[in-house]
Amino acid sequence: MIWLIGNKGMLGSEVERLLKERGLIYWASDKEVDVGDYKALEKFGKDKKIKWIINCAGYTKVDKAEEEIDEAFRINKDGVRNIALFSSKRQIILIHISTDYVFDGRQEGSTDAYREDDKTNPINMYGKSKLAGEGEIKNILENYFIIRTAWLYGLKGNNFVYAMLRLFKERDLVKVVEDQWGSPTYTADLADTILKIIESCSDKFGIYHFTNEGVISWYEFARTIYKKAKRLGLIESNKKVEIQPIKTEDYPTAAKRPKYSALSKEKIKMEFNLKIRDWDKALEDFLISLKENRKYLESRLDK
Ligand SMILES: NC(=O)c1ccc[n+]([C@@H]2O[C@H](COP(=O)([O-])OP(=O)(O)OC[C@H]3O[C@@H](n4cnc5c(N)ncnc54)[C@H](OP(=O)(O)O)[C@@H]3O)[C@@H](O)[C@H]2O)c1
Repeated sequence: MIWLIGNKGMLGSEVERLLKERGLIYWASDKEVDVGDYKALEKFGKDKKIKWIINCAGYTKVDKAEEEIDEAFRINKDGVRNIALFSSKRQIILIHISTDYVFDGRQEGSTDAYREDDKTNPINMYGKSKLAGEGEIKNILENYFIIRTAWLYGLKGNNFVYAMLRLFKERDLVKVVEDQWGSPTYTADLADTILKIIESCSDKFGIYHFTNEGVISWYEFARTIYKKAKRLGLIESNKKVEIQPIKTEDYPTAAKRPKYSALSKEKIKMEFNLKIRDWDKALEDFLISLKENRKYLESRLDK
């Protein structure tokens, strides 16, 4: 019934975990079925009865995308077009994941969250490729859900939480950007929302925004990870780390990032009757799951 594309990724693996937990019937694929190759999609989908596609695959290396422009567009635009064409041919409903990086970011001092119909204007190649993918879906399909999210973290994959835990282990001083704001999103919460959309059999198609509640800077995120990890015993009790706020210009990256890209969740909350957790509650849950999975955490931090 469901085809999960990108099941080995950070979000996809969490969606798969939930599909299994709920006993839903699904097929899954990742890189072995290249979304950039329409024939590969047709071959995999042949003879399978598919009602939904959840597309968690994507080119997600934000800085590398500045160089690997063709590859980013091949996956995030052409790959998404292929999935949309296949969905259209087989009358499949597509759930696709996009990003807050389709926006350029509010001016310093503004705290207006972006709504789904606000003007997009990506400022990096990754954002441009993701916006192009959204455009393909809108041109080809009527029955789609595009969910824009931000600052994802979860059990699998590389993310900011693991990066911080590794630095807290290795260093005494960690510098973190304090002038970029957004909302962290726990993959478990987004995966749950994706399945709620499917279970609701909704026909309220279109673009939606989803993150955890609350808006913070990377610096505040880092400080909270430190405090909670310390309390939970994920950092050695005698280890003290100073976390120092720095400006974006003191941490140059290949890709520019929006300064303030909080997403308004009013639409998704209303249409699907959702309650969304605060970012710090979700983070706490994630860190507790790492505490219970200590061996896995240690293997991650040693990499
Ligand atoms: N991570 C974030 O903070 C964030 C924020 C906003 C939105 N998003 C969006 O959320 C979605 C999921 O992100 P994520 O962080 O879970 O991504 P991820 O961990 O990078 O997972 C993406 C998966 O897609 C696979 N893939 C790459 N090229 C493919 C191809 N040509 N055909 C089939 N599969 C392919 C990847 O394989 P390899 O790893 O082997 O390349 C990986 O397993 C993406 O659409 C992303 O743009 C992410």
